[in-house]
Amino acid sequence: MKVVIPAAGQGTRFLPATKSMPKEMLPVIDRPVIQYVVEEAIASGADDITIITGRGKRALEDHFDHNPELGKFNDLPSMRSLEELADRATIHFVRQRTPRGLADAVACSARHVGREAFGILLGDTINLCRPPLLRQLWNRYEELGSRSSVIAVEPVPDAKVSDYGIVAGPEVRPGVFEVQRMVEKPPLSKAPSRLGITGAYVLTPAIFDAIRSTPPGRNQEVQLTDALDRLRQREKVYAVTFQGTRYDIGDRFLWLRTNLEFAMRDPELRDRLRPYLKELLK
Ligand code: G1P
Repeated sequence: MKVVIPAAGQGTRFLPATKSMPKEMLPVIDRPVIQYVVEEAIASGADDITIITGRGKRALEDHFDHNPELGKFNDLPSMRSLEELADRATIHFVRQRTPRGLADAVACSARHVGREAFGILLGDTINLCRPPLLRQLWNRYEELGSRSSVIAVEPVPDAKVSDYGIVAGPEVRPGVFEVQRMVEKPPLSKAPSRLGITGAYVLTPAIFDAIRSTPPGRNQEVQLTDALDRLRQREKVYAVTFQGTRYDIGDRFLWLRTNLEFAMRDPELRDRLRPYLKELLK
């Protein structure tokens, strides 16, 4: 499976931390977010990954490259498992020259993806799901006939509706919606439903033509949601709910929360954190 990971966004919600460091390199415990995303892609069956980067994002390439200067530290188990990732999938990097939106970033992978369906995961979002989220989506894609795009959605609270692409359409089987409307970040009053796009997609290659014919939308950027809305006029697009939890680390609260939750899952950290938090909250 080919997987594209857009990681070209500027991370303005997390300044100044992201002034000279890509937001995808923010650590969750001891690994940068992008590493979790690549692990998830590989666990889903990806053998070919394209990360879309941009200005100021070179650290992403270095992270997946061997660093001989680290000498014997390269033998640490954590370093070995990182190197194994790069052995299990070919990782390509393509630069988006100007930040023109998520759809434009995805379009940078068009030549590489060619004429096959492919997965997309966002570079700043970790999905803890079993089976891994892209695998769940790919299974749905196959179940639905391998001709239609499938996007992950989850119900979002009213206060968050305007942070998401929102989709609406009839539920054609449990947890599967045939998309009839899609709007990028609508005000609550204009939202056609409460189903938010979570940022994981399996798309047919027809998306590339749809992106080419999509004019800039919200924020003068070419929005993937708008391109998908065009695509759905030519082929079916399904929105599916999924099993698992999504961690967006794009702002300081979300990042902190993710770190706390991951720390509580780590036996060693949990034992030290629990009494510390109790003390702190007294
Ligand atoms: C992007 C998509 C949006 C989706 C969101 C999920 O927005 O454009 O449709 O709901 O990811 O995180 P962004 O968060 O990059 O602004």
